[in-house]
Amino acid sequence: MDTLLNINTKEHDEKRQGEAFAPFVSDGNEYKKLFYIESYGCAMNFADSEVVASILHKNGFGATLQFENADLILVNTCSIREKAEATVRKRLTEFRKLKKANPGLIVGVLGCMAERLKEKFIEQEKLVDLVVGPDAYRSLPSLIEEAETGQKAVNVLLSRDETYADIAPVRLNSNGVNAFVSIMRGCNNMCSFCVVPFTRGRERSREAGSVIAECKSLFEDGYREVTLLGQNVDSYHWVGDESGGGYEEPVTFANLLEQVALISPLLRVRFSTSHPKDITDEVLFTMARYDNICNYIHLPVQSGSSRILQLMNRTYTREWYVARVNRIREILPDAGLSTDMITGFCTETEEDHQQSLSLMEYCKYDLAYMYFYSQRPGTLAARRFEDDVPEEVKKRRLQEMVELHRRNTLLSMQRDVGKTFKVLIEGFSKKTPEELQGRNDQNKVVVFPKENFKKGEYVSVKITACTAGTLIGTAVI
Ligand code: SAM
Ligand code: SF4
Ligand code: F3S
Repeated sequence: MDTLLNINTKEHDEKRQGEAFAPFVSDGNEYKKLFYIESYGCAMNFADSEVVASILHKNGFGATLQFENADLILVNTCSIREKAEATVRKRLTEFRKLKKANPGLIVGVLGCMAERLKEKFIEQEKLVDLVVGPDAYRSLPSLIEEAETGQKAVNVLLSRDETYADIAPVRLNSNGVNAFVSIMRGCNNMCSFCVVPFTRGRERSREAGSVIAECKSLFEDGYREVTLLGQNVDSYHWVGDESGGGYEEPVTFANLLEQVALISPLLRVRFSTSHPKDITDEVLFTMARYDNICNYIHLPVQSGSSRILQLMNRTYTREWYVARVNRIREILPDAGLSTDMITGFCTETEEDHQQSLSLMEYCKYDLAYMYFYSQRPGTLAARRFEDDVPEEVKKRRLQEMVELHRRNTLLSMQRDVGKTFKVLIEGFSKKTPEELQGRNDQNKVVVFPKENFKKGEYVSVKITACTAGTLIGTAVI
């Protein structure tokens, strides 16, 4: 099966939520049982599902895209907003019903919601047989055995050092061109609205050599783009030790980026997410030095008001953020820039909201993921502040923000008409097999007539027209 995925490194890509996965190619093995996995949330969760698939394959489970055929159904979940959890609950209720016809079926919940709700899933909600947190996937085979004998199978222990560095992910539903590579896990930032530090635990970096080896092997297998993933990639830090081997100096994110870029000029490198407080000039200069490191930075700001940023515990001000954006434009004048925004955070006034809008107007983002604030139990904001902006106000502000952003993205697309970009071909366009689709350096989708070009090739495309989300052009020699 060769489905084209518009690979997006964010959990906001509604199109990918709940995507079911099976390996791109059959590996020729005979499997005693079949598993079905559905993933929600951010790219890190999708990458984790590939680690889970690898662990299950080694233990005799093959993947299926039809949950009706599965002996084991897994849902890899997200807790970031209330709506994300509601979607998963609904899905688990549907899967639960299948057990009536097939009592041997095991239904398991993985990921952030498993970590947040723990035994409650089995004891109170009675929705699943298996609950496994993000750092406990190695124990899946034994937990499945326990669940098969009707025991309560739960492991939600968080780890300080688990990175699954030695596990070669099984690429699921891949287009064979783009792949995610996790370089770290967890998060040490305590943004007051965010549940991630509680569901993913302490930040830890993955051994640099294993990241480079995975990227090399992907390149050798024909992949042409890797996206290095972490909640805060700029704080990547690997210090070699006896087991981690051979580094004289600590490896920073800029060093790692460079090492991956050096694998081949034909391998594109992207990364996500950058925290405004941590992104260094060294990273920007490394990006400028290597053509194959894509000129695109996802730099979530969350709010344009310094007062709100302080309540959010983002540890920078509006002025600091603007200075970082100016520096990016200075060192990488053509860089694509995107952000995340939250409207209606606790105590947000109309004036704070206007500041968010004016910041968006200043930064002219190419892409923005915008949400209204959703209080998450246990977070600093839930404990300290009242969720006092009425829902209709949160939503109205979000709507205003979305409209402003739409106008800006259209202008950004229109500015590209007449330019020529190097495009990495990812597959057929969504509309017709007569057209191919890929992305340029700045992460914009480009569609052009197929001619004799193939997936995985680079082609120069001259842009002749655009829509709000797509550049349209023709290949030039
Ligand atoms: N680590 C990244 C960062 O620092 O920007 C982002 C992590 S989070 C998975 C993705 C986005 O979800 C955040 O940037 C934020 O905009 C949004 N988000 C997180 N918690 C939220 C909440 N409680 N309500 C609404 N949006 C939230
Ligand atoms: Fe959440 Fe902040 Fe960590 Fe991002 S940096 S994952 S928003 S706590
Ligand atoms: Fe990702 Fe959602 Fe967890 S965004 S880290 S899957 S809470």
